[in-house]
Amino acid sequence: MSEAAPLRLGVNIDHVATIRNARGGEHPDPVKAALMAVAAGADGITAHLREDRRHIRDEDLVRLKAQLSRPLNLEMAATREMVGIALKTHPHAACIVPERRQELTTEGGLDAARHHNVLAPVVAELKAASIRVSLFITCDPRQIEAAASLGAPVIEIHTGAWCEAVADRRPAIASVEFQRIKDGAARARSLGLEVHAGHGLDYRTAETISGLAEIVELNIGHFLVGEALFGGLTETVKTMRAAMDRGRARLAVPS
Ligand code: PXP
Repeated sequence: MSEAAPLRLGVNIDHVATIRNARGGEHPDPVKAALMAVAAGADGITAHLREDRRHIRDEDLVRLKAQLSRPLNLEMAATREMVGIALKTHPHAACIVPERRQELTTEGGLDAARHHNVLAPVVAELKAASIRVSLFITCDPRQIEAAASLGAPVIEIHTGAWCEAVADRRPAIASVEFQRIKDGAARARSLGLEVHAGHGLDYRTAETISGLAEIVELNIGHFLVGEALFGGLTETVKTMRAAMDRGRARLAVPS
């Protein structure tokens, strides 16, 4: 039996900052959470610096970059301001996401096909600075092909619609959405793209999606931070890692 490609866990610490910012001040510190997550087995840390700075602040990024022993993945909108910050901070990776000020979270994927002209220079500039670029898209063949034509080496599949259908116990929709992810991941790999996934994942959905061989990284935030209230961050990250490992173990394929 040969092993499937390893599956990385990126822990998104935005919502530790959300709690901090509810009262201002410094507590709880998202950088402390990031260091704990790494110690518990996270392969990387993700942080989204939003235009309105509703959770992560500029100085959090500076501290993350200085203190982390694992790769930092900066989620960012394709704006001049964010490109400037990315070039200055120089994270290991940048995930380009759509951003609307009113939304509660990143509600949909990028329209990589429609915004080709805006995205192309951003992808090129970040790549030229040796920052690994991913595009956060819904699993639609048009978007996957657009991401490939933009020269982005990585896509991150938006798993929100599938996770929502699972959580709402709508199995027919969940199964259509999962099939879409499965087909999209295979299509993306065939185009030479590295495939990541994230949004709305919990223990159960993370275990299921870990069974897709094409996916090599999951980025998970809200569930982990919420669950940490009950089980502690260290235990929560370890339990998530174990769920992913269980899902991945089913993948061992004959060589
Ligand atoms: N990946 C991307 C690109 C995201 O924008 C988010 C949400 O910030 C996540 C993953 C994590 O989603 P969640 O917080 O629902 O786990």
